[in-house]
Amino acid sequence: MKNVIIISGSPRVGGNSDAATEFAVRELKRRGANVEVFRVRDETIAPCIGCDACMGEREVCVHRDSAAELIERVFRADAVLLCAPLYFMGVPGAVKVLFDRFYVHYNFPKGLKTPSPQRKSGVVFCYGGSPDDVLHRASEYVAYCFRDLGYGSFDAAYCPMCKDKSTFSQTDEYQNRVAALSDWLVSDETRNRSGVSFGIERDRFADGAEPPEVTAARQAQAQS
Ligand SMILES: Cc1cc2nc3c(=O)[nH]c(=O)nc-3n(C[C@H](O)[C@H](O)[C@H](O)COP(=O)(O)O)c2cc1C
Repeated sequence: MKNVIIISGSPRVGGNSDAATEFAVRELKRRGANVEVFRVRDETIAPCIGCDACMGEREVCVHRDSAAELIERVFRADAVLLCAPLYFMGVPGAVKVLFDRFYVHYNFPKGLKTPSPQRKSGVVFCYGGSPDDVLHRASEYVAYCFRDLGYGSFDAAYCPMCKDKSTFSQTDEYQNRVAALSDWLVSDETRNRSGVSFGIERDRFADGAEPPEVTAARQAQAQS
């Protein structure tokens, strides 16, 4: 049985992201998954303070809140899905605060984790009408954050014209998109359905490796 975590990211109660979350829960359960929902607006999440305590040997965050526990569960899960509105071309602030806390696993001294293509992540964006390139960039950001927790595959479902709270519930096409994404998340297929690259398949972080820019900075410093 696959363990899937849905991060529900809308500050608005009863809107489209909530409806998409409930819909995805049903679809995933129907496919035999064990599903847990983490509703960001119901939690008090302390922001990362950049203290680098997590860079020490024990790799723990100084904050002991529900986000710290969630991040460890996401780190061990088979799949993760963010259902959120688009706010100013990105995720809502509280979701960004949560994602910054993923830094606890972005650990250069211990070596970064190699993302596994078998571990799949995704996003459902409900939004007003931003163009596709904006959605793509926002999705790349989400894929990048989930990759930090070892997720090597990513896909997205977009639901535009969702300003009215009930649009998702009334639009079969959007429900079909979320059903297809849910299906892919718990399938054994690692290639994403959209065929779109979200940048995470670049083999940038091997186990124990440092990112190229860190290597370049180190070499430049050694030469100066
Ligand atoms: C603060 C704020 C910023 C927003 N920024 C964007 C945006 O950049 N692009 C867009 O298409 N819609 C934007 N919207 C519209 C929301 O994405 C849209 O209403 C969404 O469906 C809300 O999701 P919900 O029903 O789950 O709350 C914004 C809404 C708010 C409140």
